[in-house]
Amino acid sequence: MKLAVIGGGSTYTPELVDGLARSHTALPVSELVLHDPDAGRLDLVGGVAARMLARAGHPGKVTTTGDLDAAVADATIVLLQLRVGGQAARHVDETLPLECGCVGQETTGAGGLAKALRTVPVVLDVAARVAALAPGAWIVDFTNPVGIVTRALLDAGHRAVGLCNVAIGFQRRVAALLDVPPDLVSLGHAGLNHLTWVRSVLLDGREVLPRLLADHPDDLAKISGLPVPFLRTLGAVPSYYLRYFYEHDRVVEEQRGAPSRAEQVAALERDLLDLYADPTLDTKPARLEERGGAFYSEAAVQLAASLLTGRGDTQVVNVRNHGTLPFLDDRAVIEVPARISSSGPVPVPVPPVEPLFAGLIAHVSAYEELALDAALRGGVDRVAAALLAHPLVGQTDVADRLARDLVAANRAHLPWA
Ligand code: G6P
Ligand code: MN
Repeated sequence: MKLAVIGGGSTYTPELVDGLARSHTALPVSELVLHDPDAGRLDLVGGVAARMLARAGHPGKVTTTGDLDAAVADATIVLLQLRVGGQAARHVDETLPLECGCVGQETTGAGGLAKALRTVPVVLDVAARVAALAPGAWIVDFTNPVGIVTRALLDAGHRAVGLCNVAIGFQRRVAALLDVPPDLVSLGHAGLNHLTWVRSVLLDGREVLPRLLADHPDDLAKISGLPVPFLRTLGAVPSYYLRYFYEHDRVVEEQRGAPSRAEQVAALERDLLDLYADPTLDTKPARLEERGGAFYSEAAVQLAASLLTGRGDTQVVNVRNHGTLPFLDDRAVIEVPARISSSGPVPVPVPPVEPLFAGLIAHVSAYEELALDAALRGGVDRVAAALLAHPLVGQTDVADRLARDLVAANRAHLPWA
């Protein structure tokens, strides 16, 4: 079975390979193809990937290429983890909105829109090659903004599932708090990618969220980045991306005085690439934990395995709404638990969503629809319309200014600008 990774030169790749190395039975990969336009990175990352599989006694071979058609031809699974414009473009996403008093974040708010504008056309081009050369392959999208990118792929008719590590990370951390195997913990996780709340935690079928809030409040506050009394008021645990909404102005203050995450990641990536260059390194280095991708490999491996075998287990993925959240368009993409069969994920019914959460979900979902329209059809006016629809922008003068500035700063990556 051939697994192609687009953006395979990412410093995250050893995280993925670590998961593959431990999962040969569940996911028998015979060829792991890493594709990337950056030959230097590909060489370093491909080297450590091959050594990791060899050390684990995994029979699969690792190949690297800058040729997209060769990478995807006859693949069974194509994993997208590319980043258009690299950390330099991300730095702009994280700093430019601050000038207007808006949060600077790579997936939330104006920065997330800029990322969508750069990314959607590239991902659709990749998917078109997959459809031509590997018909029937599954596209697993980890490329942000995952909700918008997945919607773009599905609207274009591709076999795609969107994936994020937030839910699996929460499940693993809660299982550790409860001192139980993660498989026994299932989450009532609902919303949009990077806009979710955990409203229920079942341990072997029994509700334990109230007990967790009572016994481990500080751990849950740490996971969500939000204060204990607020979590108790909500009776739910928001993902840490909700802090950009619930504490927006405080985050803006913090960001103004600090280096951007892009700058931090760029420095870390230089160190990681130095480590990968060491021909004796054949395991995932501990410093990779300083990046945000914890448990990404496990999420990717379990999703790929279930898509291939149709084992029908439940995993949190990004999937079309189809009435699951009745206050959203059927075609919207949502992030919820779904049963993974070989014909794709089917959302598990979600209990009625509280107005406080439903209102924000609907608001951001409308933004996502307009963001995708701007990414597909271009134009500063469409970018401004999407920003006006975003709850963290929302004012006409700010939307107009940010639209102009984001388009100007991203011109090199926008086919229409
Ligand atoms: C989490 C999110 C990903 C995001 C990553 C950023 O894993 O779920 O969507 O890409 O954090 O991590 P980084 O190390 O690049 O800041
Ligand atoms: Mn994510």
